[in-house]
Amino acid sequence: MTKVIKIDPQTPSKVTITLAAKLLQDGQLVAFPTETVYGLGAHALDAQAVRKIFQAKERPSYDPLIVHLHTIEALPRIARNISETVYALAEAFWPGPLTLILPRQDTVPDIVTSGLPTVAVRIPSHPVALALLQAANLPVAAPSANRFGYTSPTTAAHVLADLNGRIPLILDGGPTHIGVESTVLDMTSTPPRILRPGGVSLEALRRILGAVTMAVQPEKDTQQPPSPGMLPRHYAPHAHLVLFKGAPESVYQAMKVRAKQALKRHQKLAFMLPDEDRKRFENFPQTAQFIWLGSLKHIPDISKNLYAAMRQLDQAGAEIVLTHNLPETGLGAAINNRLSKAAAEIIETDKTNPDKDEK
Ligand code: TXA
Ligand code: MG
Repeated sequence: MTKVIKIDPQTPSKVTITLAAKLLQDGQLVAFPTETVYGLGAHALDAQAVRKIFQAKERPSYDPLIVHLHTIEALPRIARNISETVYALAEAFWPGPLTLILPRQDTVPDIVTSGLPTVAVRIPSHPVALALLQAANLPVAAPSANRFGYTSPTTAAHVLADLNGRIPLILDGGPTHIGVESTVLDMTSTPPRILRPGGVSLEALRRILGAVTMAVQPEKDTQQPPSPGMLPRHYAPHAHLVLFKGAPESVYQAMKVRAKQALKRHQKLAFMLPDEDRKRFENFPQTAQFIWLGSLKHIPDISKNLYAAMRQLDQAGAEIVLTHNLPETGLGAAINNRLSKAAAEIIETDKTNPDKDEK
């Protein structure tokens, strides 16, 4: 029932784009690649069409969607009070992985914004996404194309695994480039506030905005997060993911203790680590599975591989997965945020040892 059509990510076929654009215009859903993750698109001004997104994903209606545009000229039709600063951000980062929260226009249906007075907007940079948006000539509401709460899809196969039979079409443009979602920046607060770290770093935003704050991520038992997507457990694999945070030596020590405990209990154990950790675990028992995410010298490789790694571990039937935080700079902040949300358990290894260097 779900058709998967391969499409060249650099020069997408016009025939395929036209077909997909027609589906969107007809109020149907289309999954398509963006530079961050795959999105599940619907005509943003057609409430009936948008409702299908919530049904297919089993997404609760209180979690609002991002409206995707292909040109800045369309922005005033979706949002109001567009300041010089907003245009400066758009100039600097669009098309690209930055989502802006702005006051909304009345034309945007409540179902898109979950009834909020604001709307999330971005222009994606993936050639397939841009071609589709241009051909459809519509604002397109699109969340990540996964079942709600599960790991975002970075390949068409991930989308199919989650949504087969629930949507008519997936455009397969190969693996996505960035691998974690866009940065969500609330432009209605002063100073602007990052609700979700993502493809555009805090450092890059500071160069344009000066002051930017990072919303405090809610504790695991919070009822009222500042943005619905800040629900504490999200992006989660099925396996029990344990995230270790702290100075490297204490982290490795604690991981090894935990690993031995898991092996003793005959749990199917896996590690998800940067390449640099290979030496540390050279002598570790062969029964554990290791997933090497890429080098710390090139963090974008790690973000690109992260979600696929989580899905791979689930497929392999891993019961417990051990991982640790990365340095908090650039894309590292987005990766750490997703790891925290995916984690069933977070262990801070040097809480009693505040003098040690932060990892
Ligand atoms: O990279 C991305 O952003 C991908 C691609 C497909 O564009 N999309 C994506 O959408 O990650 P989604 O629905 O999975 O995440 C959207 C996030 C959620 O955390 C949602 O709560 C937040 O944006 N959001 C949407 N509208 C909002 C609003 N008006 N106020 C605050 N947060 C909002
Ligand atoms: Mg999502």
